[in-house]
Amino acid sequence: MRGYWVKDESLAEQGRRKIEWAEAQMPVLRMVREELSASRELEGVRVSACLHITKETAVLVRALRAGGAEVALCASNPLSTQDEVAAALAAEGIHVYGFRGMNHEEYYRCIGMALSHGPTYTVDDGADLVTSIHKIRLDRLDEAAALVKSVVGDVARLADVKGGTEETTTGVTRLRTMADEGLLLYPIIAVNDAKSKSLFDNPIGTGQSALDGILRATNLLIAGKNVVVCGFGRVGEGIAERARGLAAHVTVVEPDPIKALKAHMSGFRVDSMKNAARYGDVFITATGNINVIRGEHFNVMKDGAVLANAGHMDVEIAKEELRKLAVGVEELRPCLERYTLNDGRRIYLLGEGRLVNLVCAEGHPSEVMDLSFSLQAESIRYLNRLDGKLERRVHLVPEEVDRRVARLKLKSLDVELEELTEEQLRYMREWAMGT
Ligand SMILES: NC(=O)c1ccc[n+]([C@@H]2O[C@H](COP(=O)([O-])OP(=O)(O)OC[C@H]3O[C@@H](n4cnc5c(N)ncnc54)[C@H](O)[C@@H]3O)[C@@H](O)[C@H]2O)c1
Repeated sequence: MRGYWVKDESLAEQGRRKIEWAEAQMPVLRMVREELSASRELEGVRVSACLHITKETAVLVRALRAGGAEVALCASNPLSTQDEVAAALAAEGIHVYGFRGMNHEEYYRCIGMALSHGPTYTVDDGADLVTSIHKIRLDRLDEAAALVKSVVGDVARLADVKGGTEETTTGVTRLRTMADEGLLLYPIIAVNDAKSKSLFDNPIGTGQSALDGILRATNLLIAGKNVVVCGFGRVGEGIAERARGLAAHVTVVEPDPIKALKAHMSGFRVDSMKNAARYGDVFITATGNINVIRGEHFNVMKDGAVLANAGHMDVEIAKEELRKLAVGVEELRPCLERYTLNDGRRIYLLGEGRLVNLVCAEGHPSEVMDLSFSLQAESIRYLNRLDGKLERRVHLVPEEVDRRVARLKLKSLDVELEELTEEQLRYMREWAMGT
């Protein structure tokens, strides 16, 4: 087995400089790295990680390695790898498997390669790696899992996993379903659900970077456009706010009555997809659901409508259906495909309907990933301290870890916290003192 599979090793120096830039914006992860490097507490640990191969991920990998872990990294999306970063990691001796533009088979081959290292812990973003392990161990092979299995070779290598972490909403949802069905073979920490992740990464990181991706792919003027955001969860809310900040007329499409009401009272127009399809100029999906924008919507869209997805999987926009409706498809610029329909209308799809912020831009700013990836590193430390001895279900990041990361971030930003007086602390625990 080769120690890595990257596109172009000669990009290593360019990647090294990019990683340094990211590292400079990630003070909390640098602190965690220093602690790990002093304690070497991850000595003997093998981590198989399936993450977007970006400069920020490289900083996380370096931190885990500083603690003594052997890390094997594969891509969590066929189009999100920053090839220069992958090359730099390979040059540093990291087992890295991924390149931008992988096909389906190559994608799962890379997962197999990362798993062939026999992980003690897994780090996942979207659960493709963890579900592959489970499909193999539970003998529920589909085509992708069979391929992963053939690459792993000896499946005994998958027997010693003690725990894992999950980065994103879609992955956590899948893992909770597995736990509910009694299938989860080891405990998972839902990094996504930590407050210092989901209140910042999902809305603020994706809010900015999704708009960044749309702008880099199209250079459209957002001001005055009808922007339709599908899903007003953590990610969708951030995108809607950022689009409003660029002076778009923002419509929210949302099936959940509470979230729809919140969108309405935040000043957004709330409408059904059936209606919004007719007047939207730019559509952005962020739902974690399938076929959110589909044939019936393409059929009534305006000429020139632009479609982008910020949800984890590339199933939110029914792109196969769009392809079938089109009489011609042409790539006009990187990440921008024009679909011409038989009545002459043109619909533009960004980044093949995959995560627009990672495919058409660079993903979240490093400052935000500082929080998410410090939580990842801290969660691996936590699992390792317990030697994975946790119930086999999806766990929250411990409250003290979550708060510590937020505290360290504030400290790095030189922001002072209010300290409560003894009297205030007592009063907050008081029940007898009335009006
Ligand atoms: N692009 C990124 O970098 C990035 C970052 C974080 C999360 N994500 C992904 O974004 C997606 C959303 O994550 P989240 O944390 O906001 O989840 P969430 O559960 O907070 O929000 C999803 C929202 O979509 C709504 N929804 C479901 N089906 C819908 C439909 N057909 N039409 C309109 N709305 C619908 C739900 O009611 C919910 O309010 C997930 O796939 C997640 O993994 C992407």
